[in-house]
This record gives sequence, C-alpha cells and structure tokens, in this order.
Amino acid sequence: MSATVSYNELIPNNVNLASDRRLQRALEEWHPKFMTWWNVEGPGYYQDREVYLRTAISVDKNGWAHFDHVRMPDYRWGIFLAEQDGENKINFGDHKGEAVWKEVPGEYRGPLRRLIVTQGDTEPASVEQQRLLAATAPSLMDMRNLFQVNVEEARHLWAMVYLLMAHFGRDGREEAEELLQRRSGDPDKPRILGAFNEKTPDWLSFYMFTFFTDRDGKYQLASLAESAFDPLARTCQFMLTEEAHHMYVGETGVARVIQRACDVMREKKTDDVRTFGAIDLPTIQKYVNFHFSVSEDLFGAEQSTNAANYFTLGLKGRFQEAMLKDDHQLKDDSYAVLRRADDGFSRIELPALTVINERLRDDYITDCQRGVDRWNKVIADAGIDFKLTLPHRAFHRKIGEFSDVLCTPEGRIVHGDEWDREVHHWLPTEADREYVRSLMVQCKEPGQYASWVAPPRIGINNQALDFPYVKM
Ligand SMILES: [Fe+2]
Ligand SMILES: [Fe+2]
Repeated sequence: MSATVSYNELIPNNVNLASDRRLQRALEEWHPKFMTWWNVEGPGYYQDREVYLRTAISVDKNGWAHFDHVRMPDYRWGIFLAEQDGENKINFGDHKGEAVWKEVPGEYRGPLRRLIVTQGDTEPASVEQQRLLAATAPSLMDMRNLFQVNVEEARHLWAMVYLLMAHFGRDGREEAEELLQRRSGDPDKPRILGAFNEKTPDWLSFYMFTFFTDRDGKYQLASLAESAFDPLARTCQFMLTEEAHHMYVGETGVARVIQRACDVMREKKTDDVRTFGAIDLPTIQKYVNFHFSVSEDLFGAEQSTNAANYFTLGLKGRFQEAMLKDDHQLKDDSYAVLRRADDGFSRIELPALTVINERLRDDYITDCQRGVDRWNKVIADAGIDFKLTLPHRAFHRKIGEFSDVLCTPEGRIVHGDEWDREVHHWLPTEADREYVRSLMVQCKEPGQYASWVAPPRIGINNQALDFPYVKM
C-alpha cells in the first residue's frame, strides 16, 4: 500500500493487487462486464469525444488528481484506499480501544456485506439516472461536470466491488454481479434505495440531486469512514475527496439558476421570469422541497435497531465520531428527536443508541441549511426580497415516523383534502416540470451558456469559461 498508484496494470490501484492473483483475476473477470454496463447504461452521448476529466493518480491530499482530455471508456477506473492516519484503534462501540480489523470478523460478515452492497448500489444507480442529460447540457462545462460525476460514481462502484471481492469470497463475487444487474427505476430489478429509482429528467433536477442526494452520500461515507473494518474506512475516506466536487457542482448549479432568475427580475422589473426563459424562485423552492424530502428518507427510520447494532459492533460510526465529546458507546446517553404529537410535533429524549439515524439526519440538515444560506445570499445581494427555506423534516416523507403525516413545508399538519388542494404550491407540478424541460436545450459552443442559468464564476482547474471542456 503506497500513496502512488500503479498504472501499469489493467486496474490502477494502491492496494498491491499484483500480489493477490486470485483477487486480481476475479476483478479482471468483472472488468468486461463493467464495461458492458458502462457502454449500455452509462452516458448515452459522446462516449467517443474527449472530455476534460480529472483522474485520481495518488491518495496524497496535495495533488491527488490529474486533469486531461480523455474519452470516457478510456478513463482509468482504479482502486484507492486512503493512507493510514495515526493510530489504528477502533474509536466507538463495544470494541472501542481495540485494534482496527484488517479482515472481516466472521460474525459480522452479514451486516458488513449489507452495508457495502447498499452503498455500492447507489453508485451505478446515479449514473443510470443521469444517462440522457448530456443531450440537453446548458454548456460544455456543465456537460464535463456531468461526465466527471458519472466516471467517479462508477469508480465508487469499483471501490465497493473491490471490498466485496477481497473480503467476502464467493458471496462477494455474487453481490458484484448483482450490482451490475439491478437498474434504476426498473420495476422488476430496482436499485435498493427509493431516491435512486427516481428520474433525473432535467438539469435543475441534476443540480438538486448532486446538492441534496450526493450530500446524503457524504454523510453515509463519513460514518462508514469511521468503521472498525479498516479497508472500508480507508476506501470511504478517499471517496469523500471525490464526492466534494459532486456537491460543488450541485451547489454552484442551483446558485447559477437563482442568479439568472434574480438578474431577470431586476433587469425586466418583473417576477414573471418565465416570460424571459428563466426559472422563477417559487419553482426552485418546490424543487428544493422535493429533493430535500426524498434525500432525507435515505437516512432510514428514526429509531433503528440495525443502526444501533452497526454502531455497537463498530461497523458504522457517527459523523466525525472522534470529535464528539462523549463515551462513544452511548450506553446511558439520550438524544432529542422530533415526534408527532396531538396537532403538531414535540421533542422527546430517547436512548441515543436507538436514534443514530436521526442524529446523522440532523447533521445532514445542518449542512444543507448552510448551502441554502449561501443561495439566499445570492438573492439578497441582488436586492430581492425572497428567501429559500428547507421544508419541515416531516414534509413529504415516505420512510419513518412521519411517513403517514401530511403537513405543509412549514410543518402545519393538514388533512388529505387540504393536501390535495394545496400540494401544487409545495411540490413541482407536471406543468412546472414541463416548463423546466422546455428550457433544456444543448449549448455546445465553448463559452456558450443556456438562457436559464448564469455562467459560472470560474472554470474547472483554472481553465477559462470558453475552454473546450468537451471536444465536439
Ligand atoms: Fe459516489
Ligand atoms: Fe457523488
């Protein structure tokens, strides 16, 4: 294991793959199946064009990525584990203080496999969801960003498949096959988690997805990065480095849509920005409501014995576990969570161990709020009196405590008839989606940007805005 990556082999890696012939062979057999999946289910356009992509060349924090024009099928999908940092002690759960595990303890094979497969399944799912978007890319830079996200999500699939094949024997190899067989949105063989079976039909949805749903990924990866199973922890640490760019694409994308709406409102002195081909702020709010609520569901039920067990066994920690000031075992701790009560909601204290999921969701919501605050600054800087908000956590939920609650984005409980009457104010309607879709036209001249989105402030890797990010 070293910081530099070997590129002489079919599968670039820093895990000394050449020393394990069996594993190397298993991965090399999986490789053509992966390529078939990529060619059929990956980006539906421009696989033969050169794209300005970054490729991981090292796990060194300074300078891990190399930028160059490459055709996507030639991208080097590799296997990288972050370097060991400091002491190798488990820092939470029943095994706290013991040495981290290099191999999977026999009794934890089942739950660890489930965790890895669930994470792994989201990676190819998002590639499938986004496969047609290049046809309507608002600029070459956006198209490049889409492809960058796609190749890296596919690399994350490689990362999970490596763990399955290296540590779970025959079961792992079978799971690796199935990861290529499930399909996003397929009624017979759907992806495991709900949000990964939704469509990503337009670029506003894509930006929202990379802001809200990739951010769920960040929190899941961050808690797996605490795992006592060291190869999983270090794999996830490195994935987080790549993940940051995906959320950047989402945050700056939404900010640019907001910027365009504000520019039109000021220049044309009207709220009716649709007349001028922009997306109005109330519609953006509805997209926020949708994507935030769907992504919240990814954290699972508030009270969860599975999550408690994962924590106690040391398989999955909390966000930034080492920084938290408690005993990291939570035997007697409590944690306040929101519950449905009478006509509204109230906070109650529950044993902290039983509400691990809800705590992670809290961390996630705080992070989302920071992004929304930055979007609101764009609006305020334009001198416009409008504020985007995250909806109430019970709004439009399908999983957990609030799945049978109907409430407004502000958190007022409503009955079914009011919901039906008012929901078009809260969630994108078919007409809203139709309008957004109608704006989606491809811009493929370097430096050209679609009318509904402001150009970005800066290019990728210090390149100009009119750089040929994709060579058409
Ligand atoms: Fe990912
Ligand atoms: Fe991602």
